[in-house]
Amino acid sequence: MDKFMIEGGERLFGSIRAQSAKNSVLPLLAASVLTDRVVTIREIPPISDVTCMAQILRELGAEVRLNDGAAVIDSSNAGEHRISSALTKELRSSVFMLGSLLTRFHRAVTAYPGGCDIGLRPIDLHLNALKRLGVNISERDGYIFCECDRLRGAEIVLDFPSVGATENILLAAVKAEGRTVLSGAAKEPEIVDLQNFLNRMGARVRGAGGDTIVIEGVKTLGGVDYTPVKDRIEAGTYLIACAVCGGEVEVEGVKPENVGLLLHKLRENGCKIHTKNDKIRIASYGRLKCNRRIETMPFPGFPTDLQAQATALNATAEGGTLVVENLFETRFKYVPELIKMGADIEVRGRTAFVRGVPRLNGATVTAGDLRGGAALLLAALGAEGTTELLDLSHIDRGYSDPEGKLRELGAHIRRVRI
Ligand code: UD1
Repeated sequence: MDKFMIEGGERLFGSIRAQSAKNSVLPLLAASVLTDRVVTIREIPPISDVTCMAQILRELGAEVRLNDGAAVIDSSNAGEHRISSALTKELRSSVFMLGSLLTRFHRAVTAYPGGCDIGLRPIDLHLNALKRLGVNISERDGYIFCECDRLRGAEIVLDFPSVGATENILLAAVKAEGRTVLSGAAKEPEIVDLQNFLNRMGARVRGAGGDTIVIEGVKTLGGVDYTPVKDRIEAGTYLIACAVCGGEVEVEGVKPENVGLLLHKLRENGCKIHTKNDKIRIASYGRLKCNRRIETMPFPGFPTDLQAQATALNATAEGGTLVVENLFETRFKYVPELIKMGADIEVRGRTAFVRGVPRLNGATVTAGDLRGGAALLLAALGAEGTTELLDLSHIDRGYSDPEGKLRELGAHIRRVRI
């Protein structure tokens, strides 16, 4: 397991182009088996979640070539509809395969999905919606068995705007007979991207980005050559890195409105933000002021995937911050590691109270999940002294070459292969 050695205290200067969004690429890869034609997805980030999803597609019998940054998927010979438990446990996004496999084969078998250890991640919303579309579902020995004679369009209401359930419904309804009307849909930019991708394959989906999505089932879907939306969470992480360390950084590729609340919070911290088209420039000098409150919400609210990084920033800002995590139960597991670095943070259930200290100190800490790991990385970049950040496997799930990008900006960071 690799580790980072980080010498903190360097200001960051320069520019970064955001990678394609992990949370878009994964459902697009799942969508690639909806058709037996060739699908090309460009600018694929070399992150381990993508490698794992490609492996799932291969297990189903698809040919997946990762070529020059593009994934070329030919699933014309795919015939398998069962996803092995080893891969499902590694990648929660494998749950999207249910929708795609039901559309393609009318059958799907998968183990209960895995993913980050950030609390209970039920899939009841996914399964109830699939039932509405005419799928019979049974569960045995930790596996979910889904089958149907045909998929029928239906009216579906989501009690909570689950990103994954919304995507699964799109994938299952795209060729269903008749019309599906989904209310209470998630509004994340990655849902809009999936809609655009499906429509480029010949689907008829409209309304993504809003509360109600209408899917008119089509008979056939063709191939597509597509470049996904850029990663607002990766971009946000580097913006926060600059805020923590000081300096001036430009992040290219992400529309400012897709990180709107983060930019508002960074301005509250005292950072200067300039935006132009898909370029966001941040300048940060001197000690930052704390945010009084950060509360995670579904899009366009403050993203849960930036909560840990924002907490790391507030750990050395002036004043106190109340952080409320509304999406996942146990998303503060990184806090004890920040405390090892000198942070003053108290966690009670879904809230954390952060009292800003003047600086953090280098320490040996372990990344226990993807975004918590990113938070420790940011804390280390701003800290005095050397930090040894252990277990990079989680960070590698979602960030491509973080050490290379940060070194370009002037950080002292190196990966040590153990
Ligand atoms: C996606 C993102 C993840 C992000 C999350 C919230 C991907 C690959 N992952 O995850 O990075 O943190 O959105 O923005 O896109 N829930 C249920 N029942 C369900 C489904 C969800 O109760 O059937 C609950 C979850 O437990 C959680 C909340 O809904 O509390 C949000 O989950 P959801 O939006 O589904 O997140 P994911 O799609 O798993």
